[in-house]
Order: sequence, then C-alpha cells, then structure tokens
Amino acid sequence: MQNDLSLQLRPEQPSDCAAIDEIVRSAFWLEFASTSEVPLVQTLRERDELVRELTLVALEDNVVVGYIAMSEVTRDGASARGLGLAPVAVDPQRQGAGIGSALIEASLAIAVRAGWQFVVLLGHAEYYPRFGFVPAREHGVTGDYGDGDGWMVRALTDEPPSPGHVRYCSAFQ
Ligand SMILES: CC(C)(COP(=O)(O)OP(=O)(O)OC[C@H]1O[C@@H](n2cnc3c(N)ncnc32)[C@H](O)[C@@H]1OP(=O)(O)O)[C@@H](O)C(=O)NCCC(=O)NCCS
Repeated sequence: MQNDLSLQLRPEQPSDCAAIDEIVRSAFWLEFASTSEVPLVQTLRERDELVRELTLVALEDNVVVGYIAMSEVTRDGASARGLGLAPVAVDPQRQGAGIGSALIEASLAIAVRAGWQFVVLLGHAEYYPRFGFVPAREHGVTGDYGDGDGWMVRALTDEPPSPGHVRYCSAFQ
C-alpha cells in the first residue's frame, strides 16, 4: 500500500516489533501517562489475537512511524465478524501529519473488503467521527468500558450495527 511518495503502509512483521513497542510506549505516555498498551500489544501477538491483515505499520523511509492493531470481538458471547480497534499510535514527532488517519482508513478499507461487519473502539470522541464512528449507545452496542461518548462503533456494511454486548479478546481482560 502506498498513499503518497513517502508513507508506506503494510502489515506488521516480526522485525517491526521493537519499533512498534517504542512508538506505542512514547505516544501513550505523552497522551495519557500510561504504559499498559505495550504489554497489551505484546500479549495480542503472543496469543495470536491480532487480525494480521488489518494490523498495519506506517513507514517513512523504512522507519516505523505509526501503528494500528485490530483484533476480533464477540457480541453477546458469540462471533459476529466484529473488530476492536486498539491501539493506534503515531510517533509523537510525526503526529498531526495524517499518519494516524492513513492507518485507520487503510485498515477499515481492508476490513470492508474482507467482509467484517463492524468495528468498536474506546477513544477520543472528537477524533473518530471523521472515520464514520458514532457513540455506540446510539445503536444499543454496550461494552465493558461504560457508555460515554468515547465508546464508539462503526458499521462496515450498509446495515447499521446490531445491538448487543461487545467484548474484546482475552488480551484485554
Ligand atoms: C491519536 C493519534 C493516533 C492520531 O494520529 P495523527 O497522525 O496525529 O493524526 P492525523 O494527523 O491523522 O490527524 C490529526 C487530527 O487528529 C486530531 N487529534 C489528534 N489527537 C487528538 C486527540 N487526542 N483528541 C482529539 N483529536 C485529536 C488533531 O486535532 C488533528 O485534527 P485536524 O485534522 O482537525 O487538525 C496520535 O495523535 C497518537 O498516537 N496519540 C497518542 C496515542 C492515542 O491517543 N491513541 C489513540 C487512543 S484513542
């Protein structure tokens, strides 16, 4: 995937892991003073819970500058072809340049083509509406993180998301 001359997007490879960990660590530390996302990503990998074709790195001059992870969620305890978007992180030195948007749009586009039905996330309520996300409560989609504006859902088909209780995979528990 190539969205301009300098930014390349592709699925993560084992050789990217150290760079991904560092970007996730620095981005979440700066934004939330949090470090828990690094072991989360490592656990997602170890348990093979990442949806590989949707879990992408962004590279500039072959240097990893951004990352998006997708994993499968359940609805009411059953598979529903749903995804959890988490985490997404961009090198703090490179934020605000469209890298996060490129990663999110690319991963969502692949997910649509692959027949996934919906995506949930817990994130910045002001950032994700531009990608089609709305507060999940508007569709009766509940989760384990409350029903604030940052708990969001986006359909990946023409149908609205079905209501139900969505739960992330085991790495998040
Ligand atoms: C959120 C993040 C992935 C966005 O990546 P990015 O490459 O900086 O984003 P883009 O350049 O594509 O988009 C920039 C836009 O995002 C907005 N944005 C960035 N962080 C935001 C935040 N915390 N809240 C609301 N909007 C935010 C910017 O205001 C900008 O808006 P504009 O286009 O209207 O000017 C990145 O800032 C990051 O890694 N943050 C720390 C980790 C994090 O918060 N991850 C998401 C958890 S929900």
